[in-house]
Order: sequence, then C-alpha cells, then structure tokens
Amino acid sequence: MKQAQKSRYREAGLAKMNHLTPSLRQKSDDALLKQVEKLTSFQSASVIFIYVGQNFEINTRVWIDRWLMAGKRIAVPRVVGNGVMDAVEITSLKQLSVKKMGILEPDETHDALFLKEIDLVIVPNVVADRYGYRIGFGGGYYDRFLKKEMFKTVMPVRKSLLVEQVPREKHDIIIDTVVTEDEIILCKENGFER
Ligand SMILES: Nc1ncnc2c1ncn2[C@@H]1O[C@H](COP(=O)(O)OP(=O)(O)OP(=O)(O)O)[C@@H](O)[C@H]1O
Ligand SMILES: [Mg+2]
Repeated sequence: MKQAQKSRYREAGLAKMNHLTPSLRQKSDDALLKQVEKLTSFQSASVIFIYVGQNFEINTRVWIDRWLMAGKRIAVPRVVGNGVMDAVEITSLKQLSVKKMGILEPDETHDALFLKEIDLVIVPNVVADRYGYRIGFGGGYYDRFLKKEMFKTVMPVRKSLLVEQVPREKHDIIIDTVVTEDEIILCKENGFER
C-alpha cells in the first residue's frame, strides 16, 4: 500500500526531474551548493559522505571536486549487495568508474571507511518533504545505511521536487536538514524527532 503510494510519488518526481532543462538544473545545482556550504555542519565536517549524482540528479561531481580542493575528505557509496552499501574514501574523481546501471563507483582496490569517521552525510532523493522524509530510487540503501550510526544528515532538494508530505514507513530514516535553492529547513523544528 505505502510502497504503491511511494512508487507514484517516485514516478511523478522522476518525470518532473527529467523535464528540467540543463540550464535550470545548472542554476539549481549552483544555488544548492551555496546553501549546503552555508551550514555549520558542512563547514565543521572533515569527512563527508556524498552520493555521485547521475543523469538528472544534482551533479555532485562538481561539489566533490571543489570540496576535495578545499581539503575535505570525501567518501562515496559502493554497492556491496542488495540494499547495502559501503562508504569508500576517494581523493580524486578519477578513482570512479562506471559500474552496474551506469553508477560511478570506486573499485574494489579502495578499502571501506570506518563509518564513525564520517562527519556528515549528503543524502540523495527523488522527492522529499519539509519533515525530513524522502523517497529515493527504492532500494532502501539509505534507510539501511543511515541506521548504522547517528549520522548528521543534509538533503539538498530542488524546490520543484519538494512535496507536502511523503508517504512514510517505519523503516524510513528522517533527515536532519533539508536545503532548497532558497531555504534551509531544520526538520526537527517541524515536529519530528529522530
Ligand atoms: N532497515 C531496513 N531493513 C530491511 N529492509 C529495509 C530497511 N530499510 C528499507 N528496507 C526495505 O527497502 C525497500 C525500499 O525502501 P523504500 O521504499 O523506503 O526505499 P527508498 O527510501 O526510496 O530507497 P533508498 O534508501 O535506496 O533511496 C523496502 O522494501 C523496505 O522494506
Ligand atoms: Mg525510504
């Protein structure tokens, strides 16, 4: 039931996402980057776990490059099984290559990072709401990953993909901070404690 509702939101979100023109996406990405960089949780983070956006998602490769240059340590996901991913530290985008389903990942020669080292997780989404709930691609990867530690979490969301309320399930992990092009939303203040 909830899964069917989520599918509808996911599909509507993807359709919207795919219709944004490259120049609108670029503008949105730039604004979101500025917003994320305003956050104390970003500024004080030494180790940042961030997804590698593909297709019409936020082009986080630009962010990764910029943050590496600024001296941040960066870890990215590597899928190790169904719904399970590791965090792997990279020092250059060149360490990523195309893996299953076109996803850019570091290869097996890179060791998984000790999760306690991660100061901040940048969380992907297809749609999201102001309460910190999200819908991703539906593999449950982030719900399982974020359960492992009390990570600080930030979710950049294009405002065109922000919805009133995402369907919720027990296993969904709430994100601390939602950032849009012109808003910083502290989700706990909207009434949902983690
Ligand atoms: N902690 C968990 N343990 C076991 N199964 C889980 C867990 N979290 C999610 N799942 C399963 O993963 C599937 C997908 O979950 P959901 O629809 O919330 O995906 P999503 O949040 O969109 O995906 P993602 O986290 O990859 O972006 C569901 O069948 C759900 O039962
Ligand atoms: Mg979920």
